[in-house]
Amino acid sequence: MSAVTTTRTTELLTRRSPIGWILAGLILVVVVSAAYWLLHPMDEYTRSVLSLSGNEVRGRSIFVMNCVDCHGQWADGKVGPSLRNVSERLSPARIVTQVVSGKTPPMPQFQPEPQEMADLLSYLKQL
Ligand code: HEC
Repeated sequence: MSAVTTTRTTELLTRRSPIGWILAGLILVVVVSAAYWLLHPMDEYTRSVLSLSGNEVRGRSIFVMNCVDCHGQWADGKVGPSLRNVSERLSPARIVTQVVSGKTPPMPQFQPEPQEMADLLSYLKQL
């Protein structure tokens, strides 16, 4: 490739055409996603929960025992918000974090076994 061609290509990718900006934008998105992924690796617990298949009937009974006081008998909200369609708002991993992290008081930190958490998740998914 001659120097002239290289210069022309560079010009094309930067000033003359929006392709350069589109490429730069795409690269930025990839880099930012990669950085996010590296900074927030999915922890061991979440990974094992997501690898299990849950039982929504058992999930319902875990929910009744632990969550209804705040989220209501039918998950339609009380002290805590309604959890209807929660899986459209939050990813499964985010829901797991919400339940086990204890970062949003007054919601307590729960420590269900991975299988119990998977059951709970499958109940929450169909709300
Ligand atoms: C002591 C009350 C309380 C209990 C018990 C409780 N929660 Fe919560 N929960 C909250 C409150 C308050 C929030 C809102 C937190 C915030 O975002 O500030 C919340 C938020 C959530 C959210 C996120 C909702 C959204 O749309 O962002 C999920 C999912 C959730 N709770 C699931 C559960 C599950 C599952 C249980 C039972 C294992 C449970 N909670 C038990 C009070 C409670």
